[in-house]
Amino acid sequence: MSHQQSVLDLKALVRSFHSLIAIETVEEERVRAILSEVAESLQLPFFEWSVTAGFHRGYGSAIGNTQEALGALKHMAELQHDAIYMLKDLCPHLTKPETTRALRELAAKLTHTASAIVLTGEPIELPRDLEAMAVRFTLELPDEGERRDAVRRVVDAMKARQPVQVDLSRDDAQHLIQALAGLTLQQTRTVIAQAIVDDGKLTPLDIDQVIRAKGEIIDRGGLLEFFPLEDNHFELGGFARLKEWLANAQTGFTAEAKALNLQAPKGVLFAGVQGCGKSLAAKFIAREWKLPLLKLEAGRLYDKYVGESEKNFRRATTVAQAMAPVVLWIDEIEKAFASTTAADADGGLSQRLFGSFLTWLQEKEDGVFVVGAANDVNRLPPELLRKGRFDEIFFVDLPTSAERETIFAIHLRSRKQDVARFDLAQLAAAGEGFSGAEIEQAVIASLYCALRTKAPLTTEALLDALRTTVPLSVARHEDVERLRRFSEGRFTPVA
Ligand SMILES: Nc1ncnc2c1ncn2[C@@H]1O[C@H](COP(=O)(O)OP(=O)(O)OP(=O)(O)O)[C@@H](O)[C@H]1O
Ligand SMILES: [Mg+2]
Repeated sequence: MSHQQSVLDLKALVRSFHSLIAIETVEEERVRAILSEVAESLQLPFFEWSVTAGFHRGYGSAIGNTQEALGALKHMAELQHDAIYMLKDLCPHLTKPETTRALRELAAKLTHTASAIVLTGEPIELPRDLEAMAVRFTLELPDEGERRDAVRRVVDAMKARQPVQVDLSRDDAQHLIQALAGLTLQQTRTVIAQAIVDDGKLTPLDIDQVIRAKGEIIDRGGLLEFFPLEDNHFELGGFARLKEWLANAQTGFTAEAKALNLQAPKGVLFAGVQGCGKSLAAKFIAREWKLPLLKLEAGRLYDKYVGESEKNFRRATTVAQAMAPVVLWIDEIEKAFASTTAADADGGLSQRLFGSFLTWLQEKEDGVFVVGAANDVNRLPPELLRKGRFDEIFFVDLPTSAERETIFAIHLRSRKQDVARFDLAQLAAAGEGFSGAEIEQAVIASLYCALRTKAPLTTEALLDALRTTVPLSVARHEDVERLRRFSEGRFTPVA
């Protein structure tokens, strides 16, 4: 969503007599810019309040005795004309009953006027009665135009202090602006300033640094992990049907498809045997489509150290939306909706979260391709398996003999072994029932052994490693069989 869209949406809220609007954000400055535009186009004066600056208009000084929240609210209650009020970080002051009351009365009084009170801060926790009166507005992350502006301003500001050399072609600049997607304006400025400070230049080399810095910022949030395209070298053996499906689906992103009123692909879900490449497939999709990858650790949605689940989910989708085109990989997706079947186990939280997820899945804009990976299909809510939620649900089975050959080759090659020296057919035969993860493990274990004995790795040593391992498909034979039976005819095989 663009700056302009935010202005329009907020204007619509104000005009429909919403007198108390809460915008939970750290991006005060952006809200300020948006609100002053709203005020201007509605021909209303724009006032601000903060505990340090008091109640004031524009760059003027505090009016009267309004440093204290209560003083400011009382002052506002006496004003005769309509206005837009932006109250920064008011919430911590709402612990006092008289302040809460004053806000409530003021909001009620303004309900039938053209005025609106806008609360900003992070977090915004309101007493229940105020929450009921307030409408929440989500500030989207800055769009391309805002990011471009921000970069320009940082460069100009730094030029005033030191020589700055900008060495970017049109394409480079576009790439840089795209690389900044998903960051707040403040983060954008910091990242760009850092990139310039190093050597006094802004060059294509800085794009990589920006992508890395963004990765760190996103990871720090605790919920999303960012894999830049540049770091995605994962190879996936087998999965022939999936690969074909992807080649087809990719055409769904083209202008030609759009012209035929075809929707861009929404997402796929992987279910299947442990260690057989569900997670890897998510990484592979991003790589095939040359898109950055965002991983949402579903289990962490409920992590109380990370904060409120619903808010976290919203935040994650906001970042993903801002970074589009992107692959959003939700690993262990069943954990996100852990107890949807046991409705009240968590006060309906996972029910609500599941509801928001389905809605989002249905309504999200093109450009965020969702890849769900489920480790336990029995715990998936049936609604998720229904047709139309995902474009396709894939079942990932144990690799076939030919696939095992490829998987051996991938993992030997990635550890600098000359694949031609090994009897892949024999290895594949001996690896019957092994998952990709177990094959990789056998390669690693026998390489350790070879290193210790200072002997080159041989087919024989690999066969030994296979012989001494009991694969999961044997150890947990019944579970694997049950999963296969459940999936047959229901899901599309990947191979
Ligand atoms: N088809 C494959 N091609 C290449 N490597 C594979 C394949 N399948 C599995 N592997 C190897 O096994 C590792 C584990 O696979 P992955 O994590 O994708 O499995 P998973 O199905 O997500 O397992 P889990 O159920 O434990 O989450 C991969 O990182 C990769 O090294
Ligand atoms: Mg996995």
